[in-house]
Amino acid sequence: MARILAIGIATLDIINLVDDYPAEDSEVRALSQYQTRGGNATNTLTILSQFDHSCHWAGVLIDEPDSQLILNDLEHYQINIAACTRLSEGKMPTSYITLNQQSGSRSIVHHRDCPEYSFNHFKTIDLSEFDWLHFEGRNIDETLLMLEHIKTHYPDLPCSLEVEKPRPNIDVLFELPTLLMFSQHYATYHCFNKPDDFLRTLPQNTVASCTWGQQGACAINADGQLLHSKAFPPSQVIDTLGAGDSFNAGMIHRLINNDDLQSALTFACQLAGHKCGQQGFANLVSHFKY
Ligand code: FRU
Repeated sequence: MARILAIGIATLDIINLVDDYPAEDSEVRALSQYQTRGGNATNTLTILSQFDHSCHWAGVLIDEPDSQLILNDLEHYQINIAACTRLSEGKMPTSYITLNQQSGSRSIVHHRDCPEYSFNHFKTIDLSEFDWLHFEGRNIDETLLMLEHIKTHYPDLPCSLEVEKPRPNIDVLFELPTLLMFSQHYATYHCFNKPDDFLRTLPQNTVASCTWGQQGACAINADGQLLHSKAFPPSQVIDTLGAGDSFNAGMIHRLINNDDLQSALTFACQLAGHKCGQQGFANLVSHFKY
């Protein structure tokens, strides 16, 4: 069991399951609707906690009615929230998600009007209590200060950075983490058609992965060697929401256990594939315990 701190967001996800993706300016009836806690960092933690790691979240929690569902879910997965910033006013980030029953695709309209987690709060955390830190690639200026703080005061503490969305200046963060986990969206936004071509452009000694949907994922190790894993699609794709967050959890879980990068990559693809075959994250890892 490792002690893991993830810095990022929790959201309220309002999910409409539809028979097919609606045309613009049409009206369709949802097959069902449900609300759940979401957010990349906390999604990843709910999976890591199922692997029996001790999971901690650092993010912003606002005292408003929608927080209760979020808090209940975090409690269910035994995610410690002591490092969170608690605010009495405002609104938790909310995602309105259209989940297509036929393809499992998830289209997200995200609304955010909530302060970002600050470096000032982060630097009060006793990081010696943790074995691994995981960051979402967001809130660039503050995240840079956090990563520099780790480099200076805890140079041996491994940390991963998820780079899912292209954001201005996000590349200033790339030299600091132990592991970078890129999305296909990030690489294609930068005009790459293949994950290995993209990974080859990273500075020497960077350890990184890049997911590529149905073609699996690639990684590059510190010696510049490229690795690949195929995808492990389920017999039926049910729900792709959080597949990337599941991949990240798989990578972290295996690397914390000192597995090599190739086996972490293959495992992360298996976990992400398995997640797409079920709704949500509950009981995701029972299939994998060995
Ligand atoms: C899935 C997810 C959702 C959330 C959205 C935030 O990866 O974390 O749970 O609403 O992305 O960008």
